[in-house]
Amino acid sequence: MKIVTTEFITGAVSPQQYPKGVLPEFAFAGRSNVGKSSLIRSLLNRKKLVHISATPGKTQQINFFRVNENLMFADLPGYGFAKVPLSVKRKWQKMVEQYLLKRNSLAAVVFIVDLRRDPTALDLELKEWMDAYRIPYLVVATKADKVSRGARKKHVDKIRAAFLNPGDELVVYSSETQEGRKELWRRLRQRAESKKEGSGEGPAGESARPKRSPPR
Ligand code: GTP
Ligand code: MG
Repeated sequence: MKIVTTEFITGAVSPQQYPKGVLPEFAFAGRSNVGKSSLIRSLLNRKKLVHISATPGKTQQINFFRVNENLMFADLPGYGFAKVPLSVKRKWQKMVEQYLLKRNSLAAVVFIVDLRRDPTALDLELKEWMDAYRIPYLVVATKADKVSRGARKKHVDKIRAAFLNPGDELVVYSSETQEGRKELWRRLRQRAESKKEGSGEGPAGESARPKRSPPR
């Protein structure tokens, strides 16, 4: 994927602040410090555009980027950082929940997990929540450079068993080595195309939604 332009559009904490949702959009979600911002930087080949945390839990708003004038990326705040006070966690939960349920231009969530780690309860909760609300997502296991070749299969199998539904495929990624970048772009382009053609799933209708909350 040739990146011609990337622009930071805005940071938002509530729907009134979102940019207009006319382009197919991908939201990057995952545990705090899992490597969301790094993955966006790697996809965009931009060293400085997205803030990389020195301390986890730093991205506290939804950051919107426009790519090549035809796609949007939304960097969501990470969940599960223990040191954040409960009141702040609740605020984040509401922010992410509102976004995922209401953003009509959402083509898919790029759901990022750590290839090295066992799935956390919050990761599994997010998966179940997205399944329940029929929010389309794509599982990416990042930090692959930190896993030895010999141990890889074991980790991949664990992630597959925990997060993938029948027919889904896992993208193994490294923002360090760029492994998986072509593959992920291929899938994003596919999803963006089907979203433009109106055949993308998009968030489910209000009536189809059970009342549940995403993890926090
Ligand atoms: P929050 O915004 O706080 O939720 O974090 P985040 O998910 O955006 O994580 P971020 O991209 O800031 O990365 C967290 C740390 O992991 C940083 O020190 C990154 O350099 C490191 N990191 C991210 N991706 C990779 C990777 O693929 N390989 C390696 N080795 N390190 C990575
Ligand atoms: Mg971040």
